[in-house]
Amino acid sequence: MAARMGDLVEPPDTGRHFTEGMEQFHHPRPVCSGSEPSPQRRRLLAGLSGRVLEIGAGDGVKLTCYPESVDEIVLVEPDPFLRAAAKRIAEHLSTPVRILDGDLRHLPVEDASCQAVVCSLVLCCAARVQETLREVRRILVPDGELRFYEHQRSGNPAVTLLESLAAPLWSRAAGGCRPSRDTLAAIREAGFVIENLDRFAFRHFDHILGVARLSTG
Ligand SMILES: C[S@@+](CC[C@H](N)C(=O)[O-])C[C@H]1O[C@@H](n2cnc3c(N)ncnc32)[C@H](O)[C@@H]1O
Repeated sequence: MAARMGDLVEPPDTGRHFTEGMEQFHHPRPVCSGSEPSPQRRRLLAGLSGRVLEIGAGDGVKLTCYPESVDEIVLVEPDPFLRAAAKRIAEHLSTPVRILDGDLRHLPVEDASCQAVVCSLVLCCAARVQETLREVRRILVPDGELRFYEHQRSGNPAVTLLESLAAPLWSRAAGGCRPSRDTLAAIREAGFVIENLDRFAFRHFDHILGVARLSTG
């Protein structure tokens, strides 16, 4: 039975407890999801089952939203502070959780070993998004699913231009985040078929939330 937020230790304040040498991750807003998982993050995880990998998992706040049908949760997160925060939450769950250090280019997970891979505001941080999506493909079982909640380039050319102009500064200030990336196109280019898609504006940025599966064709 998953724990409720009220049962848990205080969520981490990632703005105050960073360790030396992790400057690239020292950005409170992008790495800390807050005291409660957002409704989008809850929707992202609904209906999952089997073994699920979440990459760039952050502080683990949405661990409590994984359904009971999930047998094992594997989190990959390079920041030791965030891994420690996720571990504190994982200790309250009955579902087994493995928390691993790792990078989006080389995920430390076996081939064809997961029913689903969850990407939540992380593909925007990938230096080479196709390399990351290749890793996701490698790890998924043949009929596995990619669950995504990601930034998406705006459909409005004027906004896209502004986003592109602001991108270098924004990326430095927000842990490598590139909100103007065409994430949907990248997912398709990697050989996934979009099965379910919701597109909406959140905090002035376009976002996508959905499910994609590997194309069998
Ligand atoms: C915007 S945060 C999102 C955190 C979490 N997924 C969520 O939804 O709240 C981006 C996450 O990606 C991780 N990240 C950034 N670059 C990474 C890399 N090269 N490899 C693995 N994770 C990375 C960061 O440490 C951070 O936890």
